[in-house]
Amino acid sequence: MSTIVLRAANLDDAGTVLEFWGRAAEDAHRPADSVVAIEGLIRRDPEALILAFDEGEGAGELVGTVIAGWDGWRCHIYRLAVAPGCRRRGVGGVLIRAAEQRFARLGGTRADAMVLDENDLGQSVWKANGYAPQPEWSRWVKPLAASARS
Ligand SMILES: CC(C)(COP(=O)(O)OP(=O)(O)OC[C@H]1O[C@@H](n2cnc3c(N)ncnc32)[C@H](O)[C@@H]1OP(=O)(O)O)[C@@H](O)C(=O)NCCC(=O)NCCS
Repeated sequence: MSTIVLRAANLDDAGTVLEFWGRAAEDAHRPADSVVAIEGLIRRDPEALILAFDEGEGAGELVGTVIAGWDGWRCHIYRLAVAPGCRRRGVGGVLIRAAEQRFARLGGTRADAMVLDENDLGQSVWKANGYAPQPEWSRWVKPLAASARS
């Protein structure tokens, strides 16, 4: 793996992150992303959105993202994505560990991730990092009219 540098996203990154997710992230069965929503996340929790940059040949190129969401109670991981040309080099694992380290600093005791049943690729990386489905629970959802974000 070339040199991967992690840092928290700032407001100036929102547009780049949205564009990145358009070509690198899983997008089925979920609300649409927007710059406004990304900025809202960064304002509410400036350390939640972690970006990975390749400081090797393509110096400064955004190659991965993860949201390490801490709501004061539970630890939720979202938007794990690695640039198609940089996959299978350990970047996904580095991002998962960064999220887990954040949770540990905050006192979290268990991390969870939403993984589509049809996303074999996503399932493979979670399994490789020690995650497993929890068959006793399922996710219940209700879209909220007042907000495009959920
Ligand atoms: C899933 C994703 C984040 C993995 O990122 P990555 O940087 O390639 O992952 P890593 O290199 O850290 O892979 C870690 C392990 O996951 C498993 N894995 C990852 N990609 C795999 C593949 N294509 N086939 C089989 N196993 C795979 C392997 O066990 C791998 O370890 P190994 O390379 O030593 O065998 C990336 O493929 C991606 O962005 N996919 C599209 C978005 C997505 O589905 N995100 C997950 C949402 S739940």
